[in-house]
Amino acid sequence: MYDDLTKMAEPYKIKMVEPLKITTREERIKLIKEAGYNLFLLKSDDVYIDLLTDSGTSAMSDYQWAGIMLGDESYAGSRNYLHLCEVIKDIFGYNYVVPTHQGRGAEKVLFPLLIKKGQYILGNMHFDTTKAHIELAEGIAVDMVIKEAEDTENYHPFKGNFDLEALENFIKDKKPENIAFILATVTCNSAGGQPVSMENIKEVRRIADKYGLKLFFDAARFAENAYFIKQREKGYENKSIKEIVREMFSYGDGFTMSAKKDALVNIGGLIAIKDDEELFTKVKTMLIPMEGFVTYGGLAGRDMEAMARGLEEVLDENYLAWRINQVKYLGDKLRDAGIPIQYPAGGHAVFIDGKKFLPHVPQEQFPSHAICVELYIEAGIRAVEVGALLAGRDPVIKKEILPKLDFVRLTIPRRVYTNSHMDVIAEAVKRVYARRDKIKGYRFTYEPPILRHFTAKLEPVE
Ligand code: F0G
Repeated sequence: MYDDLTKMAEPYKIKMVEPLKITTREERIKLIKEAGYNLFLLKSDDVYIDLLTDSGTSAMSDYQWAGIMLGDESYAGSRNYLHLCEVIKDIFGYNYVVPTHQGRGAEKVLFPLLIKKGQYILGNMHFDTTKAHIELAEGIAVDMVIKEAEDTENYHPFKGNFDLEALENFIKDKKPENIAFILATVTCNSAGGQPVSMENIKEVRRIADKYGLKLFFDAARFAENAYFIKQREKGYENKSIKEIVREMFSYGDGFTMSAKKDALVNIGGLIAIKDDEELFTKVKTMLIPMEGFVTYGGLAGRDMEAMARGLEEVLDENYLAWRINQVKYLGDKLRDAGIPIQYPAGGHAVFIDGKKFLPHVPQEQFPSHAICVELYIEAGIRAVEVGALLAGRDPVIKKEILPKLDFVRLTIPRRVYTNSHMDVIAEAVKRVYARRDKIKGYRFTYEPPILRHFTAKLEPVE
């Protein structure tokens, strides 16, 4: 399978270990019941393999940890900020940068500066906090991902692509002055960690130019997207990841980034702007009361140094190949066992199609959530539901929103678990699948009015 054996295992060795706590099945049955069948309410110490998120869960390298010791904790003018600016300019070609405490901090500062009340923000598929900050700024978030994304079984190399026809028709119909901006999420988390092709980004830029609109990126998983372009798009096979990233971002006007993903740090975010100095002045003005002074934006100097180093490190092709292939390794094991997943596997996670896995559980009874509970009981694995439980209710008529895509997300932290852990996860999913007929749905015993999935309590429907 591997011609080159140096590509067969992790491209790093382990210098420090973190023991995992092992619980028994009986203990887990009790613990999840006590947590109101809500995996967010478990103690992380009671979790064996934690696949809740890839956000802020990466293992940093020795080079990043060394950077932590070089933190310049000055309130103003920190050398770590200046280093971060240099790195952003070098990788993305953007002139203006501020740090924020995390991705949603960047959204909170930038979006109100771009959105007028009632304007539309057109995305491939907006992430939840992104949508929330669009709505807090009185904008309307619209998703325009290609139809192929909804067809989980069939292969498409770029399921995160914009439906270009829908995009252009929407702009013509609603008029450009009613569109605040276009936002491309790379990779597209909500569609299953699916990439956007260079050709699609280029076309979105062409449409943006035609109607005088700005294009921003939600850049949390930019390097994983670039790796997929290199693997799957003609003309990019011999380009470096850095060249691909540079080209992708040349089509944008700026980005927000949760640095907790591809920047390989545990906390942090960014706003970067290509060349609009006037917008940057506005960003700086709002950043100070909300996140902090321009040269720290809610972070310690050491955090910015680790981020600058992480952004350079993530471009390493050996790292990216391992990362993407580890997720694929898990995805292939599940697919080979006949388990329905969003295919192909995403960059940061394997997404199980909950409706197809448990066809006898109505979507109102949260089939994907039921699978998450069973995975915890089976092997102490904590996955996350990205489906009807998360979607919540329509704010006006209070009816359950039943999203087309209802997923169990097996999110793989970066550089944290080995393929032995992937084997455990695959085996656990297979065992749960084998007894799927006996799995019941869930109903609320307590339902909070907003963001209910974080704090809700549930019980099995008898
Ligand atoms: N944009 C995308 C595409 C994201 O996936 C996230 C976070 C954010 C923005 C917000 O960034 O958490 O740093 O404030 N996604 C995490 C997840 C929480 O689990 O998918 P943040």
